[in-house]
Amino acid sequence: MNVLVIGNGGREHAILLALKKSKRVEKLYCMKGNAGTAQIAENVNVDYMNIAAVKKYVGEHPEIDYIVVAPDDPLALGLVDELEAMGKRCFGPNKNAAIIEASKAFSKNLMKKYNIPTAESEIFSDYEKALTYVRAKGAPIVLKADGLALGKGVLICEDLKQAEEGLKEIMLDKAFGAAGNVVVIEECLKGLKYTPGEEVSVLAFTDGKTIVPMITSCDHKRVYDGDKGLNTGGMGTFSPCPFWTDELEKEVYEKIMLPTVNAMNAEGRTFKGCLYFGLMRTDKGMKVVEYNSRFGDPETQVILPMLKTDLLDIFEAVTDGRLADVKIEWEDGACVCVVLASGGYPLGYAKGKQINIGDVGDAVLVHAGTAIKDGKLVTGGGRVLGVVAKGETVEQARKKAYKAVENISWEGMQYRKDIGLKYRQG
Ligand code: AMP
Ligand code: GLY
Repeated sequence: MNVLVIGNGGREHAILLALKKSKRVEKLYCMKGNAGTAQIAENVNVDYMNIAAVKKYVGEHPEIDYIVVAPDDPLALGLVDELEAMGKRCFGPNKNAAIIEASKAFSKNLMKKYNIPTAESEIFSDYEKALTYVRAKGAPIVLKADGLALGKGVLICEDLKQAEEGLKEIMLDKAFGAAGNVVVIEECLKGLKYTPGEEVSVLAFTDGKTIVPMITSCDHKRVYDGDKGLNTGGMGTFSPCPFWTDELEKEVYEKIMLPTVNAMNAEGRTFKGCLYFGLMRTDKGMKVVEYNSRFGDPETQVILPMLKTDLLDIFEAVTDGRLADVKIEWEDGACVCVVLASGGYPLGYAKGKQINIGDVGDAVLVHAGTAIKDGKLVTGGGRVLGVVAKGETVEQARKKAYKAVENISWEGMQYRKDIGLKYRQG
């Protein structure tokens, strides 16, 4: 089969690397891709947010048998629906199900209606009413722009002044554009043992009937060591989550995963694809922090390398509604991804810096913002490379990844030194 993966980042390169192992894959394509995807796939220079352009390309390439839509924005736009209408088989939810990520107001209402554990919240479209509510609740408090905001639309406000300013930014100054027309105001969750709270990402394959959770992972969202500084797209991940247990898995499956998939069915919004549960362990049990309608980035970089089953077999089973028939197996052990970013990220950063790569041992370099300029590998984005290593334990994998990092450099390169050190005491 010839498979097209839509997206540009590390997640897409990781998906392509996993698909490349499939015996049934003949040719891979990536729209638009990066310098890493170009090594294993044909990069297609089409803007995937331009649905007409994507349809034109796909129409002109009948040899493409299957399409994976990986990022949130084209899913929210309904790209899967459009491609299915052309008779193409796809991996990714339809537009009416992708809303579980695209609208936080939708997902909070869903959780309220179906008793799925999450932070208490209220939804406002009126600034004055929102302000009155914030003042009544006090700090700490969490403000979330309703729509997609490149992962930046969440403000954790430690004091009332911050909260009032944040509300103004979102609702009046429209710092996140139309995503801030509606705001979700919610209780700040506290972790059971750690501050800020302990979080785990649990991704699951689902065809709307069967749910198969993947191995767990933990992200590092802040830019600096010790979870300091601004939120980013994710500075590194490791798998598995140290505090995960069979009991938690059972609790999350019964109280969160199954009720969510059932709720989406009951709403006439059957979700097929990868459903991502961002969870926090609190003194009142596991709670949903967010849903994503897609693979996480950089979670995917530490999950898919551990997959033993053919990824294309799983994708097709999801599409065809026969996931129950597939046995999904994982390697034992651990995996760590250290993200190497451009200096200045997540704010302004330079592009086009030449990347020097020496011996990285058996670490795998997953490309995110890379490009080729004058035959040389250069930086082309905020998050540039993910250095991925496996080991028997997180500690072993972490050592290998950081050893490889020592032999990679470019002007301004920055990264966290503490990926994989969280939640050591269970
Ligand atoms: P999101 O964009 O929804 O992933 O939120 C970004 C991050 O904000 C999460 O990963 C959490 O660390 C944090 N966060 C979101 N909601 C809450 C909450 N209600 N309480 C505490 N932290 C939160
Ligand atoms: N790593 C978090 C996300 O993909 O949203």
